[in-house]
Amino acid sequence: MIVTHTIENTRKAIRTLREKNGRLALVPTMGALHNGHLSLIKLARQHADFVVVSIFVNPEQFGPSEDFNSYPRDLDKDLEKCKNAHADIVFAPERIHVYGEKNVLSIGIDSLNRHMCGGSRPGFFEGVLLIVNKLFNIIKPDIAVFGQKDIQQFLIISRMIQEFNHDIELVMAPVERANDGLALSSRNAYLSDKERAAAPGLYRSLQYICSMMKQGVHSPELLIEHQKSELEAKGFKIDYLDLFSLKTIEPVHTLHKGSAYILAGAVLLGNTRLIDNLLIEL
Ligand code: PAF
Repeated sequence: MIVTHTIENTRKAIRTLREKNGRLALVPTMGALHNGHLSLIKLARQHADFVVVSIFVNPEQFGPSEDFNSYPRDLDKDLEKCKNAHADIVFAPERIHVYGEKNVLSIGIDSLNRHMCGGSRPGFFEGVLLIVNKLFNIIKPDIAVFGQKDIQQFLIISRMIQEFNHDIELVMAPVERANDGLALSSRNAYLSDKERAAAPGLYRSLQYICSMMKQGVHSPELLIEHQKSELEAKGFKIDYLDLFSLKTIEPVHTLHKGSAYILAGAVLLGNTRLIDNLLIEL
């Protein structure tokens, strides 16, 4: 496994891989790798001959009051995990390598980020698109793998690929969960024992609402409100818990047969923000 820190060395390492003629997959990460990331690398391996993992805590996608400084970082452990997962290259740049001294350009998003995390984290998806666009241009992968846990990120990147004409196939990896259903996330490390025990409550609420929708509930608003109150009673602060159209990421109030939906929630347990979602096709 080759570890690179600069764009120049990364491109050099990629040129050498490319000489062997194979498909190249990119798995972008912010490090603090867990089994969810390893499942992305595994999926990338199934779709490609070579896998590049990027590890970079992207400052551009953190708001001023968010956890950029405290975000977990452990490059040595991450490299060990990437090696065991048979990554070919790990690109782990410093900020200066990807952003230089000063940026004057940014990527705007006209819609798709008005709701869900886009609604509550202004600038977040602009920051994500900036780094992902850079990574696509630096690494020029044939395939890029992202997780369903960040479904809005996946959909917005998919739109960027289409609108910016990146020649990249996007692959979505299913949500990787702990035995009790909690979606794996680097931020789970922040949870106290008590919070960790309560945390799967979000997934359970989503599962309950989903099962009622599948049993024929046409207008899930009351159900959702009830689940929000239940979660609040257990100590969760709700950022959002709602049903959205998979196509527009706008909230949906009445269900239609043949349509696809995202049932998604973002909550705070103490200071830890947790997100989760289920994709529902009726
Ligand atoms: O999903 C993440 O970890 C990040 O948003 C990503 C895609 C690596 C961009 O920084």
